Parts: sequence; structure tokens; C-alpha cells
Amino acid sequence: MSTSQLPLLVTGASGHLGQRVIAHLLNTLKIPAGQIIATTRNPEALAGFAAKGVIVRKADFEDTAALAKAFTGARRLLLISTDALDRPGRRLAQHINAVQAAVDAGVQHVVYTSMPKPAGSPLLIAPDHLGTEQALSAAPLSWTVLRNNWYFENLFMSLQQVLASGQWFTAAGDGKIAHIARDDLALAAAAALASNDTGKATYTLSGAEAFTTAEIARLVSQTAGKPIQVVQVPVEGLIQGLVDAGLPEGLAAVFASFDTNTRAGGVADITGDFRKLTGVAPLAYRDWLLANKAAISGT
Ligand SMILES: NC(=O)c1ccc[n+]([C@@H]2O[C@H](COP(=O)([O-])OP(=O)(O)OC[C@H]3O[C@@H](n4cnc5c(N)ncnc54)[C@H](OP(=O)(O)O)[C@@H]3O)[C@@H](O)[C@H]2O)c1
Repeated sequence: MSTSQLPLLVTGASGHLGQRVIAHLLNTLKIPAGQIIATTRNPEALAGFAAKGVIVRKADFEDTAALAKAFTGARRLLLISTDALDRPGRRLAQHINAVQAAVDAGVQHVVYTSMPKPAGSPLLIAPDHLGTEQALSAAPLSWTVLRNNWYFENLFMSLQQVLASGQWFTAAGDGKIAHIARDDLALAAAAALASNDTGKATYTLSGAEAFTTAEIARLVSQTAGKPIQVVQVPVEGLIQGLVDAGLPEGLAAVFASFDTNTRAGGVADITGDFRKLTGVAPLAYRDWLLANKAAISGT
């Protein structure tokens, strides 16, 4: 096996993004299954990929003793950020473990899923991403940082409540979001992983348009066939509302800080980086809404 055929490794491979990255490696980029390693805490969830010949291994960023072994043999590795938001600092510690394990395993290049403008961001989870980018910069390997804008799919986190009440509470003001389909971000990650780029590069991946919450609500309302009134509230009011709805206060502050970040312009930038990486245009929001019309109007 020549160096360029040594495997590509995807962490967190059973997550929504991870599964789509593997699918794009196999089906869009035609990488042979035997050259793909998928690591996950739940190997049984990847039985379908294993049956196709993908090498499935168990790995948990908190099991440092086993991590380097799970990464052994990989030439390039996609580090998918975890969802450990329960305790500040936990996720960054996990990512630092993963970067160290990649170095220990002799991985040449790491691709990481970050967020737009993490430095100085009011988003309370931004330090995880900034800290991981810094850990990569300090590591003896090359890297690609993918600063992923928010998924179109995040709509489903609040849609049921919004449609039931007819109200969309926001502290984002007229801040815009240049959001993008999660599957497009999976394609971009697969392309970055499968390339032979051995530099140190940062891409900010956005959709082709940016919308305010009011504009998003109007488009969603048209798709769902139900009225939505956007209610602007101060961030403290948003946190209180989330706490009243049953969220722990720390997590409510994290969620509300997404709006503070939007209001500050943290996720408004439209870039051409998605096309640069993939050679194609990102899916338009209106087309995504149309493709998901049944799920949206049935919510
Ligand atoms: N840009 C956005 O709008 C947006 C929205 C939501 C999330 N995100 C971020 O992007 C990531 C991928 O998104 P997604 O939609 O695929 O989320 P998801 O379906 O919730 O997946 C969670 C991911 O975290 C991984 N993970 C959790 N704990 C881990 C641990 N201890 N060690 C290793 N991996 C661990 C999971 O891997 P396994 O279960 O396979 O072990 C899985 O890949 C999320 O984890 C989050 O950091 C971005």
C-alpha cells in the first residue's frame, strides 16, 4: 500500500454528520471502503458501513489509553467536534486528547469541524473551537480547519414549539445567519479529508445567502402553511424563558448566546469556501425547505 492509499479516518462516525461524511467518501468520492476507518463509541451503529468493508473501530475521546491505538494506521483524520456541552471545558479536553492521540499515532493531517469567527466570540461554546484550533496549530502535523456555519437542520430543534405557539422568541435582532445544509458540510469535510493537501488552511463554510430570524421565520411559515410571529426579547428574557421551559440555567445561557453571537454578526459572512473545497454550489435554503416540506408542515 503506497502512502497515498493509507486510510482516511473519521471520528464520531455514528453522528448525523459523521455518517454523511462516510457516505460521501464512499459514494461521491469513490474512496474504496477498505481505505476508510470509522471510529465511534457505538460500533454496532455502523454495521451497515462495516458490511460494505469500512473498518469500524471503537474510540472515545475520554478513553485516552485506547485512543492512539484506535487512530493507528490512519494517514489523515477528520476530528468531528463532540456534543459534550454539559460542563464548560469538557469538550475542549476531549478534543485535545484526540489531537494528542493523532500525533502519537503518526497521523499526518487532521481536519477539524470548527465554527465561524471563534476568536472573541460571545458564543459560550466558542472557546472549545478556538482552543482546538490552537491545539492543532501547536501540534507537529498539518491541518484543515472547517469553520462550519450553522446547519439548516437546526430549525428542527425549535420548530415544534414555534409552530405550536405561533411565536418565535429571539434575541438575535437583525443579525443574519449564512446557514448551510448539514449534508453540504459533510461533503466539504469528505473533500478536505480525501484531498492530498498537506498545508495549514482555514475555510469558512457558509450557504449562498444570509437571513435574519424574521426572514427565516417568513420562509418557514410559508413552507409550513402556519403563521409565525417573531418576538424580539432581551437575552436575559430568552434565558429565563428557556429555564422556565425546563432547561438547566447553564445550558439556557449557552443556547441564548447563539443569539448574542448572531446579533453581533458572528455567523453572517457569506464566503466562496464551500465551492472552493467541493467544486459545487451549496444547496439554497429555499430548496432545502422544499425538500423538507413534509417534515416541516407535519411538525
Ligand atoms: N454547525 C452546526 O449547526 C452544528 C449543530 C449541531 C452540532 N454541531 C457540532 O458538530 C458536531 C457534529 O454534528 P452532528 O449533527 O453529527 O451531531 P450529533 O449527531 O449530535 O453527533 C454528536 C457527535 O459527537 C461525537 N461524540 C460525542 N461524545 C464523544 C466522545 N466522548 N468521543 C468521541 N466522539 C464523541 C459523536 O460520536 P459517536 O456517537 O459516533 O461516538 C458524534 O459524532 C456536533 O457534535 C457538534 O459539535 C454543529
